[in-house]
Amino acid sequence: MTYVVTDNCIACKYTDCVEVCPVDCFYEGENMLVIHPDECIDCGVCEPECPADAIRPDTEPDMDEWVEFNRKYAELWPCIITRKDPLADAEAKDGETGKREKYFSDTPGEGG
Ligand code: SF4
Ligand code: F3S
Repeated sequence: MTYVVTDNCIACKYTDCVEVCPVDCFYEGENMLVIHPDECIDCGVCEPECPADAIRPDTEPDMDEWVEFNRKYAELWPCIITRKDPLADAEAKDGETGKREKYFSDTPGEGG
C-alpha cells in the first residue's frame, strides 16, 4: 500500500507535506508534487498535512491510475524535502475540478 498525490495538488503545491515524510519520498514538478509508491512506507502522516486534501491512500477507488502517475513522475523529477511558498494562485485554484487536464505540467521542479 502507498499514499499518492492527486489532482488537487496541481496549481496549488502547498508543500506542507514534504517536511513530515520520514523517508523523503516526495518529488517536485513545476506545479505539483508526487510520491514514489515504491518508497512510501504507508505511515499516513502526510495526509492530514495537505491543505488541499490532495494526498490519498491507494486503497480508495480508482487510484491505480494515480499510483502509476506518481511512479512515473517520481522517477523523472527531483526530490523535495524543504517546504516552499505555495504557488501564487493556490488559494484561487484549490478545489477546482479537471486540474490535470487544465494545468498539469511535466516540467521538473527545482527540488531541494
Ligand atoms: Fe511519506 Fe508517510 Fe506520506 Fe508515505 S505516507 S509519503 S512515507 S509521509
Ligand atoms: Fe500538494 Fe498538498 Fe503537498 S497541495 S504539495 S500534496 S501539501
